[in-house]
Amino acid sequence: MSALLEVRGLVAGYGRVAVLRGIDLDVERGSVAALLGPNGAGKTTLLRTLAGLVRPTAGTVRLGGVDVTARRPHERVRGGLCLIPEGHGVFPSLSVRENLRLQVPPWVRDTSVDEAIAAFPALGTALGRRAGSLSGGQQQMLALARCFLSRPKLALLDEVSMGLAPRAIDEIFAGLRRLAEAGVALLLVEQYVARALELADTVHLIGRGGLTFSGSPTEVDEDAVVRGYLGHALEPGS
Ligand SMILES: Nc1ncnc2c1ncn2[C@@H]1O[C@H](COP(=O)(O)OP(=O)(O)OP(=O)(O)O)[C@@H](O)[C@H]1O
Ligand SMILES: [Mg+2]
Repeated sequence: MSALLEVRGLVAGYGRVAVLRGIDLDVERGSVAALLGPNGAGKTTLLRTLAGLVRPTAGTVRLGGVDVTARRPHERVRGGLCLIPEGHGVFPSLSVRENLRLQVPPWVRDTSVDEAIAAFPALGTALGRRAGSLSGGQQQMLALARCFLSRPKLALLDEVSMGLAPRAIDEIFAGLRRLAEAGVALLLVEQYVARALELADTVHLIGRGGLTFSGSPTEVDEDAVVRGYLGHALEPGS
């Protein structure tokens, strides 16, 4: 059977500048893939291109065996994709409950807000609060719960732990594990390399517009990746 996500020869960027110069990437059903690389490498651009927010100039994206390269963002959501963008994917002026309710898509009948609370119990005491009044960690937890409710096949997560306190980061990673346990495949952009490697089944290193490594976390030299974040060579085992 083909992979859940199959990316071939993907070229995309902004105006005439190609940021992604030929990306080949597979994400298997129900697996966790970490996408790691230095600032400006194109991680966000790749997630946005997969979500249909950036239009590629070459290459294909297949989701569940279906070519979605020309599909619009909402059609990809319908096809089982969920993007949690940089920052918070929540509506700050709405309550937690409203944020969750809005996320239950019309084609999903077997989920309810209660289910999200069962999976992410920390939100239970905050249901009536305005999302914008929650801590950064709680807002990201809400974003994960919203993603969970849409029953995606694949979640694209752009640095969901960024700027959070260590304890909140622990909770977010526990939340990511819960999503994965629910059968959702994750493509995870993370600056916390060690934690990402711990959770991931597969790791992809990106640098200068292309993937420099795809393979098992056990083959990756964590220190080398972290050095890569500081602008040095991004090669496994270097
Ligand atoms: N909207 C935009 N218009 C023009 N160039 C952009 C735009 N967004 C990003 N870029 C450029 O594209 C390149 C890749 O940026 P991208 O945000 O994808 O990198 P990233 O790996 O997510 O970086 P970071 O770790 O800082 O989040 C960078 O050179 C950036 O300046
Ligand atoms: Mg980014």
